[in-house]
Amino acid sequence: MAKGFTFLSETDTEVIVHLLEYYDKGNVKNAVMKTVSRLEGSYALGVICTDTPGKLYAVKEASPLILGVGAGESFFASDVTALVAYTKNAIYLDDGEFAELTPENITVFDRAGRKIEKIVTPVTWDIEAAEKGGYEHFMLKEIMEQPAAVRAAIEPRLRDGEVTIPELTLTDEELAGINKITITACGSAYYAGCAAKYALQALTGLPVETALASELRYSEPIIDSHTLLIAISQSGETADTIAAIKECKGRDARVLAIVNVVGSTIAKIADMTMYTYAGPEIAVATTKGYTTQLAALFMLAVAVGKRLGRADGEKCAALTGEIARLPRLIQNTIDMNHRIKALAKKYAASKSLFFIGRNTDWASALEGALKMKEISYIHAESYAAGELKHGTIALIEEGTPVIAVSCNERLFDKTASNIIEVKARGAKVLAIAVAGNRKIVSQADDVIYIPAVDTLFTPILAVIPMQLLAYYVAKENGCDIDKPKNLAKSVTVE
Ligand code: AGP
Repeated sequence: MAKGFTFLSETDTEVIVHLLEYYDKGNVKNAVMKTVSRLEGSYALGVICTDTPGKLYAVKEASPLILGVGAGESFFASDVTALVAYTKNAIYLDDGEFAELTPENITVFDRAGRKIEKIVTPVTWDIEAAEKGGYEHFMLKEIMEQPAAVRAAIEPRLRDGEVTIPELTLTDEELAGINKITITACGSAYYAGCAAKYALQALTGLPVETALASELRYSEPIIDSHTLLIAISQSGETADTIAAIKECKGRDARVLAIVNVVGSTIAKIADMTMYTYAGPEIAVATTKGYTTQLAALFMLAVAVGKRLGRADGEKCAALTGEIARLPRLIQNTIDMNHRIKALAKKYAASKSLFFIGRNTDWASALEGALKMKEISYIHAESYAAGELKHGTIALIEEGTPVIAVSCNERLFDKTASNIIEVKARGAKVLAIAVAGNRKIVSQADDVIYIPAVDTLFTPILAVIPMQLLAYYVAKENGCDIDKPKNLAKSVTVE
């Protein structure tokens, strides 16, 4: 402002534009270099100058930016799904690098302005995957794609009836030296970690802790070279998850990332990366991203348990068989779509919904509540069912809707007593239970059954009715399902 620039907004982006103008002495490339040398924080910029209309500059720091090489055209985007309609040839920029784009050419430079060679990576996602394909919303399409997406996550890792995770490159000695698993992520990816924690703990015999990435990074974590850090992210670009990984790497943790987007930042900074192969996920609310993360985590649990010799061989074989059945069981669950669509009418006018469950069911309830609130804007909370009487039950009154996830057989009676508690106070209960559980019918107002599967894996099925319920409730209420207000698909800022 002291130099005579007039600001029209209070955005940091505008500061960058003025800085570019300030440094532009007829050479836009130099102006870009000088400008970014003064920036702090994360950004991905596309710069065009009216004096050189045929040239664009692209530069990034800690935010995603991907270049597309076309025939007589060049592109840049923050997400590869935006490119697939135009080109399948991508260049992934690294931090501090910047590119000059003309229709015919893309030239990449390092921070000091020296030309560098970059590899052009083929994009395996196709255009159909990034289109709605007849569905009204991407979210519904992605829910329906889950059997195929989970199959894609599983199949490359099933060999002769055994789970193999080639990405887990720790030697037997290194694996035996691991004394703790820490799972970190944000939002739904964190809930996937919460749901899979039970399988990991049961099969590896190791203590497994889950930590929100936004908390872990500031928590002075007790993490060292004997910790296996599992970082989960669909986009691979979530700022807090990246920061948590860096924090733990600084403490010598071994980092295994579970990521969907190939070439993303998290995939690059992790020591080992397992891709989930879910294909592009466009809807802000994750569905197939979440279930493929669960599939990857379940397989990891079996593989690590087996390699450590802590999981019984017969149990591992049985669980591997269960994993192979998951795509079909997911399809069977999705086939209840019409029933859930009808039920959604009952819940669409709710002011507030409660999701309860214990153990694996609690993790599913957390994800169910998040789905509901993010796309329908209805207040939804999840509680560990046993915690109700410690306060929350005060909120239950005549007609309060409660979604009770009760798929964990061992805890069925315990959750049943919580259902009775809320019913006694007037709640209307929709239960999600495992096929064959007849007892639940007398306790809940409505029941949705998921197919029987090993209890450790029930979260991958239990979440599906809740995804569909959230979808149809949001649709009933006319919400912008694929792009809910206030939310972004990739959260690349803290
Ligand atoms: C879930 O529906 C949300 N879109 C959100 O919670 C998401 O899971 C979270 O932001 C983490 O994203 P990531 O998997 O890309 O890291």
